[in-house]
Amino acid sequence: MAIQKIVLYGSETLRTPSKEAHKVSAKIKKLVEDMYDTMYANNGVGLAAPQIGANYRIFIIDTALEKQKPNPITFINPKIIKKWGAINSYEGCLSFPGVYIYVRRYENVIIRAMDIKGRTFTLEANDGNLIARALQHEYDHLDGTVFVDHARNRFETDQILAEKGLPQINPDYLMEEQELEIQIQEYEKINPPEPVQEIEQKEQGTL
Ligand code: CO
Repeated sequence: MAIQKIVLYGSETLRTPSKEAHKVSAKIKKLVEDMYDTMYANNGVGLAAPQIGANYRIFIIDTALEKQKPNPITFINPKIIKKWGAINSYEGCLSFPGVYIYVRRYENVIIRAMDIKGRTFTLEANDGNLIARALQHEYDHLDGTVFVDHARNRFETDQILAEKGLPQINPDYLMEEQELEIQIQEYEKINPPEPVQEIEQKEQGTL
């Protein structure tokens, strides 16, 4: 068991695109074990390998709530096959301690990946549930993208980042998401967003 130090926003490691793991070697298995140890020790619901300093295309999630049975899922060399619909997602990230903001996400995702035994599997997550949002958040880490690059309110996010002593949003990395934004605005006409202070951070989880 080895809990690793989490790489914080501002480090180049988080901006470095990760490489595929050729096979599930002993080294990769050890890395995945360390990722689980580190994620659980920090009460996270997702963690990507670059967040512990290893630029491999690997991430893990466990979106089970406190009283539920653990549900760990490992994704090695994942590919998002399909994504559609739009939602507003309230997220945090272990590499951004104390930062919780709204980001734009797809509502539904289909992903294919290899598990720890090297078998291919496909997973579909719908309705903007925690798994659907976690998959997108963690997948982004493998491409050097972080959640603030999807911020719905850039100025508010910069303010929160400053409060937490973290670097400001880098405009070079901001995602262009005009279409998602339009879809989200339509969605919000029927489902107004919950005020931030009413959202239980624990239930939402930190990715
Ligand atoms: Co994250």
